[in-house]
Amino acid sequence: MAATVSEHLLDWYDAHARDLPWRVRPGAAPPADGSWPYRVWLSEVMLQQTTVAAVKPYFEAFTTRWPTVEALAAAPEEDVMAAWAGLGYYSRARNLVQCARAVARRGGFPQTEAELRELPGLGAYTAAAVAAIAFGQRAVVVDANVERVVARLFAIEAPLPGARKPIRVAADAITPDHRAGDFAQAMMDLGATICTSRDPKCLLCPLSQACRGRAAGDPARLPVKAPK
Ligand code: ADE
Repeated sequence: MAATVSEHLLDWYDAHARDLPWRVRPGAAPPADGSWPYRVWLSEVMLQQTTVAAVKPYFEAFTTRWPTVEALAAAPEEDVMAAWAGLGYYSRARNLVQCARAVARRGGFPQTEAELRELPGLGAYTAAAVAAIAFGQRAVVVDANVERVVARLFAIEAPLPGARKPIRVAADAITPDHRAGDFAQAMMDLGATICTSRDPKCLLCPLSQACRGRAAGDPARLPVKAPK
């Protein structure tokens, strides 16, 4: 099923990708001025604990004021902290400055997931997302939206957080070798707009034919959460 799932999903993404300020349209070329990995990284850090709607104005403000990673690296930390005010989780802003300075010192972002992971403050999720979206590397990108999509698609019954391992294995199995960044963002969009937590819109879903959670009758039940 691997080929079909990613093909259906990428076709759906070509038609329905959300138009977001840190994206280029599927098939379009990223900006040629070298700012692309910076824009991807910045957006992924901002989006980690914050909604797309809340991030948009901050992303615009940051990239207007600091258009490159070198510009951000040269900014006084207090200016960045002040510009971050309202986004929450302020350790992200402190790490952002440290990471920008490390990247500027080494002359640009590294391109592999393993090297990205070594940058200050870059966790497993962000390293995978930047490798896939900015550099087209095959990486398994799993956030909460993707977790939900995969748990339903494969009817993974184990409760979270224990289900993370089988979810990752299943996500790996459907990740294609090409268009890695589009695939990752298509999974996120599907989780955010169709395969939503309470009210999945299976009639609109490009994966409904393959979805074992739907076949079993009640996909909204998945993923199961461990009782507190
Ligand atoms: N959430 C985290 N990263 C995202 C992205 N690149 N697009 C949409 N939603 C996201």
